[in-house]
Amino acid sequence: MENKWDHFYKKSYEQRLSLIAEAANLSKAQLDLLGRSLNPRSGELIENNLTDYPLPEGIAVGLVVNGHEHLVPMVTEEPSVIAAASNGAKLLSAGAGIHCSVPDNLVSGQVIVKDADPHQVTKFVHDYQQQLIQIADQSHPSVLKYGGGAKGLDVRILSKQFLSVDLLVDTGEAMGANIINTMLEAVSNWLSEQLTVETTMAILTNFADKAIVEVSGKVAMAKLGTKSLSGPQVAQKIADASQIAQLDIRRATTHNKGIMNGVDAAVMAFGNDWRAVESAAHAFAARSGSYQGLSTWEIDEDQLVGRMSLPVPIGFVGGASKVLPLAGINKQIAQIDNSREEMQVVAALGLAQNLAALKALVTDGIQKGHMNLQLRSLALSNGTTMQELPVVVQKLQGMDHPSSQTVKEILKILRR
Ligand code: HMG
Repeated sequence: MENKWDHFYKKSYEQRLSLIAEAANLSKAQLDLLGRSLNPRSGELIENNLTDYPLPEGIAVGLVVNGHEHLVPMVTEEPSVIAAASNGAKLLSAGAGIHCSVPDNLVSGQVIVKDADPHQVTKFVHDYQQQLIQIADQSHPSVLKYGGGAKGLDVRILSKQFLSVDLLVDTGEAMGANIINTMLEAVSNWLSEQLTVETTMAILTNFADKAIVEVSGKVAMAKLGTKSLSGPQVAQKIADASQIAQLDIRRATTHNKGIMNGVDAAVMAFGNDWRAVESAAHAFAARSGSYQGLSTWEIDEDQLVGRMSLPVPIGFVGGASKVLPLAGINKQIAQIDNSREEMQVVAALGLAQNLAALKALVTDGIQKGHMNLQLRSLALSNGTTMQELPVVVQKLQGMDHPSSQTVKEILKILRR
């Protein structure tokens, strides 16, 4: 029997909207809002397009990476993230700034082979390496024009039953998911023909250990002092926090979430796939077998030194970044011209974000700075109008534990 949602994607926009409105009982005002936010270009990016979902975008200032100052557009819904990014950037930029390098920028993928003789497959891949590279390149020849292409193959034995034939590809300035997946499918077909083996799948891996940014930054301990703690005391507490993130998965997860606050926001602003970066980062954090903090902070003489190796598998061209007009403007604002610069700015922002969060945690506690900036969102989410906002926030600032109820009470008095 035909269901009303069958072939939903084939219906016109108006038909889809009317079905949704009926099912969800949407009011005229809600329908108007959906219509106002609609960007027809988005329908070319995703399926069953309904509207555009706007998120706030702000700018982190003062991030100095390899001697160049960058403004970094950040897309985030979370108060205090952008303030913290600028705060961390300012602390790190007071010295030599942040230093970044990208030793390799390669994408890797795998063809899974089932029930084959591992020695036969390994020998074959070794002996026919050049031919396999050619087959991969010929399946997507345009990548050669930019100096990219397949770079090598290897075999890993996963179990008695499964092998992984790994392919490494230089996808140039593109993130390269489509390029490498096309190549892997060509390699998979050829392998199964030549060796009469079953291949289970051919797909890139998001374990982006060949797209690592090495990032480091220093801050003079003297710059870290607060009203109640000296600079060296704060530095020692940050170093302790970093050590705890190496010891304990519960702390490591939150430590890394703090880093990803910055990383995701910039990756989104540049129109890249943040799920790929998220999965790469967390898998990399667990590469030793136990999940650990991605960054470390240590005292070196009078400096606090932060270091991080972070996979940042993103592209400068292609994908959604081509269709989303803001992604181009954001790259211009950030003054980045290629994927390596883009990766470096993203990773540097992650380290700055981490420093600010740790400093807040080990000094005043996160709530002081965060809640101060969260008050506006608390007020707005409880019915405060833009006109009422300054007065409501001022009143909330004087309170110990402001809540939704507090906002409602303030509004009640204000509106009398
Ligand atoms: P502060 O020390 O009160 O700020 O920090 P300040 O007045 O001394 O200003 C220092 C700099 O911060 C400023 O320099 C700005 O760059 C920036 P200036 O421009 O004055 O020369 N700054 C701001 N930028 C934009 N808007 C603002 C603003 N205020 C300061 N309103 C601050 C206040 C919130 C920055 C600080 O407390 C902080 O960095 N806190 C960390 C907040 C944070 O990490 N928020 C994310 C949410 S919590 C989370 O998800 C992660 C976490 O769980 C991770 C973890 O556990 O590791 C914490």
